[in-house]
Amino acid sequence: MVQVTREFVHHCLPVRKRDGHKGTFGKVHILAGSVGLTGAAALTAAAAVRTGSGLVSLSVPPEIWPVLAVKCQEAMPAPVARFEILLENMNQCNGVLIGPGLGRSRKTDVRTCHLVERLQTPLVLDADGINAVAEHIDVLDTRRGRLTVLTPHDGEFLRLRQGKAIGPDREAAALAFARQHGCVLVLKGHRTITAFPDGETFENTTGNPGMAKGGSGDVLAGMILSLLGQGIPPKKAVPSAVWLHGAAGDLAAASFGEYGMTPSDLLQNIPAAIQGAM
Ligand code: APR
Ligand code: MG
Repeated sequence: MVQVTREFVHHCLPVRKRDGHKGTFGKVHILAGSVGLTGAAALTAAAAVRTGSGLVSLSVPPEIWPVLAVKCQEAMPAPVARFEILLENMNQCNGVLIGPGLGRSRKTDVRTCHLVERLQTPLVLDADGINAVAEHIDVLDTRRGRLTVLTPHDGEFLRLRQGKAIGPDREAAALAFARQHGCVLVLKGHRTITAFPDGETFENTTGNPGMAKGGSGDVLAGMILSLLGQGIPPKKAVPSAVWLHGAAGDLAAASFGEYGMTPSDLLQNIPAAIQGAM
């Protein structure tokens, strides 16, 4: 298992091209949020912005769109379009994220599964995006040849495994899933493990229990999306995003302590985490 360190990340982050423009650094699209979970959508979109994406579009349920319009400065929130238009918009992007704070309903789950089947772009599934596919696990297999990254915590991973216990060997469990479904599996927690379908695994070395607060996972999902959308190869982008997320957490803990730090503090510390690795 590769230990992901500052040195590793240093070799993964390209210097931004001097003549780069918004298009150079990736257009990404996020489907997130629901009534009661507006913060998840705002955090995940802001994380993508803070990690360097050129353009971040955010689709949210119409009921909460005015809230996101106020919360977001750089990311572009809009009421979610009807399915065919949403799919077309997403397919014009360099990466798509579905799930943070999305909520569960039959309609939402069905839409998520149809998007998973038909999206041509790199796809990150988190939170309720994961919960939706867990009930129709075969849809993951329709994406062979296209990059899919899943970012479960233990509870979500248990659902993906159809209730089969994870057991003490987290690396083996993550790897078995990645191999079986041809996807990248990020098993979150203390020392997050990232498993690739070809058998390679990565163990993260940053982060702290101050990050064990609702919203931290939403920040990570936006960071992974951002690096993938910038065209960084998955074996560099995904472990690097996990390391930078933990490094931002360690910087936040140094300023505010593990009790008082918040996921918004992770956002504020992403720039210093990146600068520290460059
Ligand atoms: N050490 C290091 N990192 C940690 C630690 C720890 N002790 N505890 C948590 N983290 C990190 C994890 O690695 C992960 O990146 O914080 C993040 C937590 O992510 P989630 O568990 O997904 O939590 P979050 O999404 O912020 O909030 C939970 O969202 O996913 C849904 O069902 C979930 O509704 C719940 C909500
Ligand atoms: Mg989560």
